[in-house]
Amino acid sequence: MIKVVLLFIYLFIITPAQTNGNTITLPVEKKYRHNQVKIQKRAATHNIQLYNNEGFEYLVNIGIGTPAQNFTVSLDTGSSDLWVPSISCSEQECPYNRFDPSKSSTFSILNDTPPFYIAYGIGSVNGTFAKDNVELGDATISQQMFGMASSTQDLIFMSSSPSNGILGLGYPALTTGSVKYDPFLFRLQKEGHIEKPVFSISMGSVHNQGWAGEILLGGTNPEKYLGDIAYEPVWGNNTYWMVGGKSIQIIKETTQSEVIFNHTFASFVRCFIIDTGTSLTYMDHALADDIVRVMAGNVVLDQVSGTYIIDCGVKGDATTDYFLEFVMQKTKISVPIKDLILPLPGEEGRQGSLCMFGIAPWMTTGTSQTMSEKGWILIGDSVLRSTYLVFDMKDDQIGFAKVNTYDLFKSP
Ligand SMILES: *[C@@H]1O[C@H](CO)[C@@H](O)[C@H](O)[C@H]1NC(C)=O
Ligand SMILES: *[C@@H]1O[C@H](CO)[C@@H](O)[C@H](O)[C@H]1NC(C)=O
Ligand SMILES: *[C@@H]1O[C@H](CO)[C@@H](O)[C@H](O)[C@H]1NC(C)=O
Ligand SMILES: *[C@@H]1O[C@H](CO)[C@@H](O)[C@H](O)[C@H]1NC(C)=O
Repeated sequence: MIKVVLLFIYLFIITPAQTNGNTITLPVEKKYRHNQVKIQKRAATHNIQLYNNEGFEYLVNIGIGTPAQNFTVSLDTGSSDLWVPSISCSEQECPYNRFDPSKSSTFSILNDTPPFYIAYGIGSVNGTFAKDNVELGDATISQQMFGMASSTQDLIFMSSSPSNGILGLGYPALTTGSVKYDPFLFRLQKEGHIEKPVFSISMGSVHNQGWAGEILLGGTNPEKYLGDIAYEPVWGNNTYWMVGGKSIQIIKETTQSEVIFNHTFASFVRCFIIDTGTSLTYMDHALADDIVRVMAGNVVLDQVSGTYIIDCGVKGDATTDYFLEFVMQKTKISVPIKDLILPLPGEEGRQGSLCMFGIAPWMTTGTSQTMSEKGWILIGDSVLRSTYLVFDMKDDQIGFAKVNTYDLFKSP
């Protein structure tokens, strides 16, 4: 078996929409259809399991076509298109399931089959758009626009549980068609298939491998969080799922808690992009350096991977806990430092062995550079695992709550 030594994923869509100030269509008011007889239209909640692939990506199973052809795809709040490999992609490039339109009775090809091309933080894909029925758990949308990939780069890896396509959960404004369209989840909401206009994500601990997480369509799951859900408004005209950040802190907790690092953003609020499709958390180089040095001493960046490689045994003992906190307007995400120390795939993660730090500087490729210059911070799985997430598609806000760790350690 081929083992990828540094497998990490970086899926936020790179789009010119960020720079040209285009107008954005807001989701229209939804009509519930409680009284209608058509069973499949009844508003409900749909609970779908999430697969934790070594902590580096989170996958769901979706079906496309009639009968459904199955794909295990990455769950990505940092982009908005759904695509899967099609039979026009070579087996070398697309070694897993490939969508065959001739085997679906509900498939429809679009007029002049508009091509699509998507560039992510790492990797790109191209192919053509089409429409067919899409199902996620027991939620189904007919004639959903999706991409059939004919070529992909750096997105499908040889792995025992490969990701074979991407399900973008972002706003319609980030879709890449020549005409913006409603992604699967936004259609579920607009067409009244879900009880509340939200979807909620609980990833589970990094150590709970396999089908340990959950995405709930249409509601929140009280078993997965503690206390109240605090909501932050979405920033930036409904493009990325992003919120306004105020500061980043490190807290040392013994018998009392002490702020040992406090980086308050100067004149303006920084955007925190909430991106389940990216493994690590990215910010400007100086800030990332400061944080890793507080936690692990004088670490240098590994130039090949663009990450900090540190001793797995660094910081934290029985009597002291450290937390990295992302402070927003009303609430904060608090991550135990030990959860930011990620064993390299195949490593034990013990003291003396090598781990990757969950915070990294923005990559220096062109488009990441743009994000970096804006001062934005991309919050990925390394941090998001520590919070329950609620994405509200109607009131344009993101809810955060403390994860229920008791539930995480319950045997499945
Ligand atoms: C696709 O997945 C569904 C639901 O998990 C399952 O019932 C069906 O048998 C699968 N189909 C194939 C062809 O694997
Ligand atoms: C799409 O993929 C094909 C095959 O690899 C390639 O020749 C073409 O340049 C790609 N198109 C874009 C826009 O990247
Ligand atoms: C949102 O749109 C307004 C009006 O077009 C623009 O002035 C503002 O800069 C946009 N905000 C962001 C974060 O793009
Ligand atoms: C962090 O620094 C800012 C600005 O210097 C200050 O206003 C704030 O009170 C500090 N927060 C803590 C918890 O020390």
